[in-house]
Amino acid sequence: MNQWNQEHKKEEYYKKAKQQDYRSRASFKLLQLNRKYKIIKNGDSVVDLGAAPGGWSQVALELVGEDGLVVAVDLNWIKPFPEENFWGIKGDFTAEETLEEIRRTLQGKAQVVISDAAPKLSGIKDLDQLRSIDLAQTVLLICDDVLKYKGNMVMKVFQGEGYPELLKEVKRKFQTVRTTKPPSSRKKSGEMYVVARGFQRAGKQD
Ligand SMILES: C[S@@+](CC[C@H](N)C(=O)[O-])C[C@H]1O[C@@H](n2cnc3c(N)ncnc32)[C@H](O)[C@@H]1O
Repeated sequence: MNQWNQEHKKEEYYKKAKQQDYRSRASFKLLQLNRKYKIIKNGDSVVDLGAAPGGWSQVALELVGEDGLVVAVDLNWIKPFPEENFWGIKGDFTAEETLEEIRRTLQGKAQVVISDAAPKLSGIKDLDQLRSIDLAQTVLLICDDVLKYKGNMVMKVFQGEGYPELLKEVKRKFQTVRTTKPPSSRKKSGEMYVVARGFQRAGKQD
């Protein structure tokens, strides 16, 4: 896709987000992923890692309905939603104290972990890509802690060094794994979405 088309597409999703009152264009990525892979369903508890400004959380809130719960974490403050089943946590999800707060808020396990987290870009492509892999590794560790047996996960990751190993690790932990780019994601960007279903926790069922 050429530069003009890319910009045009970006603009189109921006306008659509505004019209439909979504906080970010990213909302459409989760909507498209969920339509195809049925990651989140009514009544689920969802943990959203790297959630600001809240576009994914907003979609998750719609999907889980009143009986579900969305716990959203970001380094930046997330403006709360009117729904009572939304909890925002300002913190670094790689820090133990944040994980503790997630556990406290959830009071049990989550059916779904979603992460659109991206490192603050330094402009050095290789460094940013490695940081993205680090974040993705942490997301997997958090799954070990808070995700229910047979739960689902979707996360964004930048392809490059460490990506094949990461995928291997995801395949070890989940029954089915797909990698995909939703139509609203720019074709040229190195970002990839890993959709994993059926979490297997070292023989445990909960
Ligand atoms: C692309 S944005 C997420 C957009 C969001 N999905 C939406 O739809 O509005 C990536 C976010 O990851 C967050 N992030 C990166 N590293 C983080 C960390 N260690 N802990 C918490 N949040 C982090 C950034 O602050 C940023 O807000």
